[in-house]
Amino acid sequence: MTVVSGIQPTGKPHLGNYLGAIRNYVKLQDEAHANGGKCFIFLADLHAISMPHVPAELHASTLEMVATLVACGLDPDKSVLFNQAQVPAHAELQWLLMGTARMGWLNRMTQWKDKAGKNREGQSVALFGYPVLQAADVLLYQATHVPVGEDQKQHLELARDIAQKFNNDFASEEAPVFTLPEPYIPEEAARIMSLRDGSRKMSKSEPSDMSRINLTDTAEDMAGKIRKAKTDPEPLPSDLAGLEGRPEAANLVGIYAALAGTSQQAVLDQFGGLGFGTFKPAMADLVVSVLGPIRDRFVELKDDREALDAILARGAAQAREASRRTLDSAYAALGLVRG
Ligand code: TRP
Repeated sequence: MTVVSGIQPTGKPHLGNYLGAIRNYVKLQDEAHANGGKCFIFLADLHAISMPHVPAELHASTLEMVATLVACGLDPDKSVLFNQAQVPAHAELQWLLMGTARMGWLNRMTQWKDKAGKNREGQSVALFGYPVLQAADVLLYQATHVPVGEDQKQHLELARDIAQKFNNDFASEEAPVFTLPEPYIPEEAARIMSLRDGSRKMSKSEPSDMSRINLTDTAEDMAGKIRKAKTDPEPLPSDLAGLEGRPEAANLVGIYAALAGTSQQAVLDQFGGLGFGTFKPAMADLVVSVLGPIRDRFVELKDDREALDAILARGAAQAREASRRTLDSAYAALGLVRG
């Protein structure tokens, strides 16, 4: 089992990032570690330059995201934790795969279509080639499990197509260069919505800070945001069908279940028939008890530049070593002379 995943170094990590992605990394890390497998988790800082960005902010949010990952339980002794920019093999393999990826495949990517909108001509070439870099990210380490959200499934299928075509075109069946990666989408991959609007994803780009619980919020902030979270006047239903058409109620129940490590039905068994005046304080206690310790570790680590640099340097050295054989095979398969 080789787990590989990347996370965008967006600033201001929130509950949605934790429940949607980071918590699954920690689970898979522990599973891989217990079974003699490997786990590579990296900050996708090279991907970040595919959109307009502010260099100083990218730098700061990369470090902030490392602190977040470690605070949430990613352990540099169990996982290889690094940023792409310190492992040139990612950019190198991307270029080598550019000869295999087809324009038509990339043109069909829904993320490209969404991000480019009507202005394709004005986008960076990096935005178009984004999925090829993502393919390089996972193929470099012969990934078997790639934990991603539903929205990244198409990119993973593309990575498989690229790997397959490269193997067909440039390698023998007995000695393929790349392993075909599998997306790993945990069933209970929680989709956490805004606290102000149950139809929108919780996001750092939402203008109102009341819409999200940041991992840096104080206990009082967290409790206040939950108290003011949008709901409807009905009490909680006693079964899942009763949550239909009630996106805000469903979101709070979903968050509660994810944090308590239980099912939504179990939450309704406990709170069905009760109003939000009872549910919200219980939810605030739960949120604070899970996120409080994470916040404390984050605050301790976030300004410790020396510690963060050391974590990344060590991870990058391990990643460079782990990626070397595959990169060498790809160069050789293509007939490139390297002395
Ligand atoms: N594109 C992913 C996202 O937006 C991040 C990412 C980059 C990634 N490289 C990856 C995820 C490799 C999985 C594997 O969330």
